[in-house]
Amino acid sequence: MSKMTRLPSPRLLMGPGPSSVSQGVVDAMGAPPIGYLDPELFELLEGIRVGLRRLFGTSNQFTVPLTGTGMAGMEACLANTVSPGDQIVVVAAGYFGERIAELAVRMGAIVTVVRGEWGRAVDPAQLRATLEAGPAPVLVAAVHAETSTGVRQELAPLAEIAHEAGALFLADTVTSLGGISVEADKWGVDIAYSAVQKCVGCPPGLSPVTVSEAVLERAQKVNLPHGYWFSDFKLLGSYYNAPHVYHHTVPVNNYYALDAALSEAFAEGLRERFARHITASGALLDGLAQMGVNPLAPTDCRLPTLNAVIIPDNVDDQQVRTNLLTKHGIEIGGGLGKLKGKIWRIGTMGHTADLNNVERLLAAMKTELHR
Ligand SMILES: Cc1ncc(COP(=O)(O)O)c(C=O)c1O
Repeated sequence: MSKMTRLPSPRLLMGPGPSSVSQGVVDAMGAPPIGYLDPELFELLEGIRVGLRRLFGTSNQFTVPLTGTGMAGMEACLANTVSPGDQIVVVAAGYFGERIAELAVRMGAIVTVVRGEWGRAVDPAQLRATLEAGPAPVLVAAVHAETSTGVRQELAPLAEIAHEAGALFLADTVTSLGGISVEADKWGVDIAYSAVQKCVGCPPGLSPVTVSEAVLERAQKVNLPHGYWFSDFKLLGSYYNAPHVYHHTVPVNNYYALDAALSEAFAEGLRERFARHITASGALLDGLAQMGVNPLAPTDCRLPTLNAVIIPDNVDDQQVRTNLLTKHGIEIGGGLGKLKGKIWRIGTMGHTADLNNVERLLAAMKTELHR
């Protein structure tokens, strides 16, 4: 390593993402780059696309790792489905649901938000009532795993209601893909985006998306006067698919990492991987409960990937997180939006979802809570 290189201290990443990655993924990412039009790159990309279809539970041909983080996926999915003036409905009970709504407003959509209590799942009957009362939307959107609250929102009932109203259904699977089951086709999800730095087990930089034929048809008609070019599926399709026309310089090293992470996931087995997330989260919550730190979400909608726990009274949120980071090398997250200062967000995602990591955090937390 050259003397000029500055590298940060090692961290155990147990926040809301990114999570720690395996040595295999780090090694793969460190391989020398090849060009974005190299035939070997497209072989690699094909393998990645097959793997992502398995994670998303879909046969959608247009399933690709978009360049950028989860926000790139969110923006692309909206930009290709929403024309200015379109009605859209967002089901939101947390920070990221609200963000979808905010972004759609920026794109000129007329947005209705079906709001639920932060820390609980939204009752699908609320969506039904909204759709019965208002003008028909072109799109209904919801977050599968709300990272700001640790809540799982069941998608199939929402998708069914959206389809009955003639709308497409968009899902944010950023904190679920690779950590809990996602069954896009079975649940009626027409379009979904995710990010690789949470449960998939990669460094940040790619946003997997899956897009049905129905959405691609709509994307042909959507008028993109908002000026989107980078995320235009029509243009992107001719890079990801033959004839592989230059669109932008894709981050090939992130592809190496994603390919390695997907191989590890399938070697482990998806069922086993999902069970590992449940085991790690269970052990974490048991250990924290013994210290008087309890989960925000009730068991019926609690995620095993992101554990939102209530900060006990008289505990200094910032001090504990700073000490965990600087004295123990462990990152956890604070609350977002209206839960800022009220909860911690502890990830048991991807490679981090491991009992040894949980024990390390519990020991550090015990020290910090008794300091
Ligand atoms: C549910 C959800 N959606 C979207 C995003 C945005 O992803 P990114 O930060 O990778 O752009 C996040 C990030 O934490 C998220 O948790």
